[in-house]
Amino acid sequence: MEWKEVPNTSPRFVVFEGIDGSGKTLQLSWLSAWLQKRKYKVFVTEEPMRESITGHFVKIALKSKEKYPPEIYLLLFLQDRINHIENYIKPALEAGKIVLSDRYHFSTLAYQTAQGIERSKIDGVLKALNYEILQPNLTIFIDVPVEVALERIYGRTKGTVDLYEKEEFLRKVRENYLELAKEFNFLVIDGDRDPEEIHEEIVKRVGKFYP
Ligand SMILES: Nc1ncnc2c1ncn2[C@@H]1O[C@H](COP(=O)(O)OP(=O)(O)O)[C@@H](O)[C@H]1O
Ligand SMILES: [Mg+2]
Repeated sequence: MEWKEVPNTSPRFVVFEGIDGSGKTLQLSWLSAWLQKRKYKVFVTEEPMRESITGHFVKIALKSKEKYPPEIYLLLFLQDRINHIENYIKPALEAGKIVLSDRYHFSTLAYQTAQGIERSKIDGVLKALNYEILQPNLTIFIDVPVEVALERIYGRTKGTVDLYEKEEFLRKVRENYLELAKEFNFLVIDGDRDPEEIHEEIVKRVGKFYP
């Protein structure tokens, strides 16, 4: 199989962000298939990482009955991310692949600040480690109202306290994302539509980079 070189000016490190249920995983897989059909080498990955023990640490903590202070989640996500960057993302980029990541550092900025951690604290941890987060070339933010996302995940359920809390939390996360979208120049995609329509728009907006 002949693979195509990614043009020098085209995004090589692409991140999908959005609240749970916004459609990231679906749209990422369709974009990946689209790119591979055009003969680009793609590395599909996600955070927390699936393959690695650092991702398992995060998932275990998220599933645990015990609730931890927000700093714990921050540290868990950061250790996974650093492993992700060093052992997976950088090697894939060096091998000439387009990296598509389902969530990345913006998830930490959106979720951990919604948990009450200030941005300066997140930046401070990285500074103390003298570690610089590799910036993606393109961040695709799929924006949906919280009710739409929750309905996709849970279906039409009567509002339980759990769901209400989750709803309030996700509202904060979405607001944080919308702020980050301006700061980091995200490509904002309206995700409250048919999946096919969303895919078409993504291809319309980014397809030109991958002839
Ligand atoms: N545009 C859409 N409209 C309706 N349902 C969708 C849409 N996109 C995804 N879904 C469904 O919603 C759920 C969450 O989608 P998923 O891609 O897993 O979102 P995320 O990865 O952002 O959590 C899945 O069941 C998926 O099939
Ligand atoms: Mg997903």
